[in-house]
Amino acid sequence: MPDSPDTPDTPDSTGGVPAAGAVPQSPGHEGATGTPAGAHPSDSPNGPDSQPPTMVKVSINAPQFQVAAAHPERVERGIAVMFVLGLLGFAGFGAAYYQNAANYWLGGSLAVGFFGLGVGMVAWGKYLMPRGPFSESRHSAAPTEEEREAFLTDFSSRGKVAVERRGFLLKILGVVGGVFGIVAMFPLLRSLGPLPKNMFYVTKWRKGSYLTTSDGRRVHVDDLDVGSVMTVFPQDDVGGAMSQTMLIRISTVNVITAADRKSWGPAGYVAFSKVCTHAGCPVALYQKLIEELLCPCHQSIFDIGPDPDHPGWYTPAMPVFGPAPRPLPQLALYIDRQGYLRAQGPYYEPVGPGFWERGAQGIAQ
Ligand code: FES
Repeated sequence: MPDSPDTPDTPDSTGGVPAAGAVPQSPGHEGATGTPAGAHPSDSPNGPDSQPPTMVKVSINAPQFQVAAAHPERVERGIAVMFVLGLLGFAGFGAAYYQNAANYWLGGSLAVGFFGLGVGMVAWGKYLMPRGPFSESRHSAAPTEEEREAFLTDFSSRGKVAVERRGFLLKILGVVGGVFGIVAMFPLLRSLGPLPKNMFYVTKWRKGSYLTTSDGRRVHVDDLDVGSVMTVFPQDDVGGAMSQTMLIRISTVNVITAADRKSWGPAGYVAFSKVCTHAGCPVALYQKLIEELLCPCHQSIFDIGPDPDHPGWYTPAMPVFGPAPRPLPQLALYIDRQGYLRAQGPYYEPVGPGFWERGAQGIAQ
C-alpha cells in the first residue's frame, strides 16, 4: 500500500527530516504556521539568548503536509474496503449472537470486524495523514497572544484538512462505529436474562400448598421422627431455589414460636425458608443436639431451640452468630384431614437476603 510521495522530499543529513530551507515560506499565505523542521533558536545568527525567533508561516503545500501515499485515491479505496469488511464482521457478530451460534462464529466474526476496522484506521493514519515532521522551537515557555492564536489556527486547519478531505471514509467509519455500537448492546440486552419482576418478593407457596419432597412426594404427618429434617417445596415448584424450605420436627405437640404464630407448628413441625438471609446460600445443616440451623457459607447460626423468655415456646430461627441480619422467615403449616402437611399461606415476608427495595411491597402475595 505505501507508495513514494507525490512531492519529492529533500531529506537532510540526519535522516529524512526536511531541511528548513526546503519549506516554502509565505508569510502572507493563509496556511498553517509553525517552525520549519530542523529550525532551532540556536540557529539564530544572534545566538540562543538573543531575540526569540518569530513564528514562521508555512504553506499548506509544504512537504510535511503531504501524505505518504503516491496515489491517495487508491489507498482510500483500499481503506474503504477494509471498513466495509469490518462492518460485515460486526454485523455478522450481531447475527451470530442473535442466533445463539457457536463460539467460533462469534469469535471469528468479531475478529473480522476488528481486523477490518483496525487495518483501515492504521492505513488511514499511515498513508493519508500529513506525514510531518512538525516541530516547534522551545525558546519561550510563554507564547505571546499572537503565537497562541497562530497555533490554534494552525492546529484546527491542519486537522480540518486531514479529516474533512476524507469525507467518504469518514462516513463509512461512522457507519462502522454505529453498527459496532448497536451490536455491542446485544450482550447487554440479552445476557442479563429476564427481568426479575416480583420474584424477590414472592415464592410459589400459596394457601393450601402441599409440602412436597424433592422427588415429588407429599409429606405426611407420620413421615418424620422428632429430631429429623427434610427439604420441601410447594407441589408446583419442586426444586425451586426461592421456595426451598427446611421442615423440622422438633416435638410431637404443637410448636409456638411467637404470640401470633400459635397455630403455625402443628404436631411439632416447623418450617423455615432455607434461603439464608445473609447472601442466599441454602441453610442446609441442622444440629440436632443444640437445636440450631447452620448456614455453611459464612457460618451463620439460627436458633430454633426453646425460647428462654417464654417457657414452652421455641425460638423462630433467630440469628445468634455470623453475618445473617434477620431470622429465617417461617412458613405457617396445617395438617389436612388425610394427614398431609400443607401451607396456611405464602411466606409473610420476602425470603432470602435483604435488598434495597425490600419492604416496598411488604408481605408476599
Ligand atoms: S450466606 Fe449464609 S451466612 Fe452467608
